[in-house]
Amino acid sequence: MHNKASLVPPTSPALVINQEALHHSVNTLNYLREKSGCRVLYSIKALPFIPVLDWLKPHMDGFSVSSLFEAKIAHEVLDSQHSIHLTTPGIRPDEAAELSQLCSHISFNSESQQQHFDSQLKSAFSAGLRINPKLSFAPDQRFDPCRLHSKLGVSLDKINKHSFNGLSGLHIHTVFSQADYAPLIQTLDKLQRQLGEYFSQLTWLNLGGGYLFNKIDDHQLFIDLVLTLRHDYDLQVFIEPGKSVVGEAVDLVATVLDCFDSDGKRVAVLDTSINHNPEVFEYQRQPNILQHDPQGEYQAILVGSTCLAGDVFGEYRCQQAIKVGDKIQFTHVGAYSTVKANRFNGYNLPDIYWSDTGDLQRLKQYDYQSYRENWLGMSHE
Ligand SMILES: Cc1ncc(COP(=O)(O)O)c(C=O)c1O
Repeated sequence: MHNKASLVPPTSPALVINQEALHHSVNTLNYLREKSGCRVLYSIKALPFIPVLDWLKPHMDGFSVSSLFEAKIAHEVLDSQHSIHLTTPGIRPDEAAELSQLCSHISFNSESQQQHFDSQLKSAFSAGLRINPKLSFAPDQRFDPCRLHSKLGVSLDKINKHSFNGLSGLHIHTVFSQADYAPLIQTLDKLQRQLGEYFSQLTWLNLGGGYLFNKIDDHQLFIDLVLTLRHDYDLQVFIEPGKSVVGEAVDLVATVLDCFDSDGKRVAVLDTSINHNPEVFEYQRQPNILQHDPQGEYQAILVGSTCLAGDVFGEYRCQQAIKVGDKIQFTHVGAYSTVKANRFNGYNLPDIYWSDTGDLQRLKQYDYQSYRENWLGMSHE
């Protein structure tokens, strides 16, 4: 796991993309591809930053996307031999034709979506169906695709056998930050028991994302599963990780602006906020900082600069008292932070740096002009 102090960027707050950590993720995925013959798509929703997409391009079989804008970016970056897989609960009628041109594979999210668009589009993409196997593994229903009354995929228990007419593939995505293969084995077992008779008329199976491949030591279960699917049914097997590719590859470096006592605890105000990593608030999750030491003598509650009382990263312990001017490094914030970040209260977004063996290069700087442009209305007559 990548867990090192970033080179200190000259501006703050700053996101630092670590090329060494990207290499590490890609090496794991390459190993899986070599041993099992699976195909690897990067799920760009995790971080669609174009320099990252460009860097990943030679290491991936394609990208997976969720919308027209993501499909357009993927199409811009990739070459024709790459795949672009789409699945979304919301295909807009006015975007369907363009999506069907941009994407090589579309997995319909429901049978009604399939009926509506498949016949209407009749184009070059390979049509699939997202199946909801109704086996829950996520600990919290906010991120459990298999929750009761889920909007994600056709219920495996309710699928209409006619839906297989003209279908080339199936898609599943059922887990959240899963660090072992047990759910995949169970899910495939259920899928095969109920739909196995159709597998040989399909050409592909997309196993989705949600697995933290870097955190799994033994990949044999995955390798055997994919080899069996390929051997028994001649299926192309895709995976589409997001967090596993970029999660550990980005750190956020912030600066302490102020420190004071609040009801007996030290509060340190940073020049960032939870709005630069909104899942901290969304899922009430405390991000890791490099300086944290559970045995540390000094405590501090790290907070953001905005007016929201709950703009709090959490309480940490350190070896030294945190003081104004200190740098705080939040680790492993590559997935779903920048893409969800916003400029609430007008606080600027972090600059983005690329870190490569001792070298730090700034790739992105937001300024007042980009903030203003965001809020500029069209001039009215
Ligand atoms: C359909 C689909 N595929 C892939 C992913 C990527 O998941 P992760 O970033 O957890 O690997 C997601 C995430 O929500 C998803 O919804």
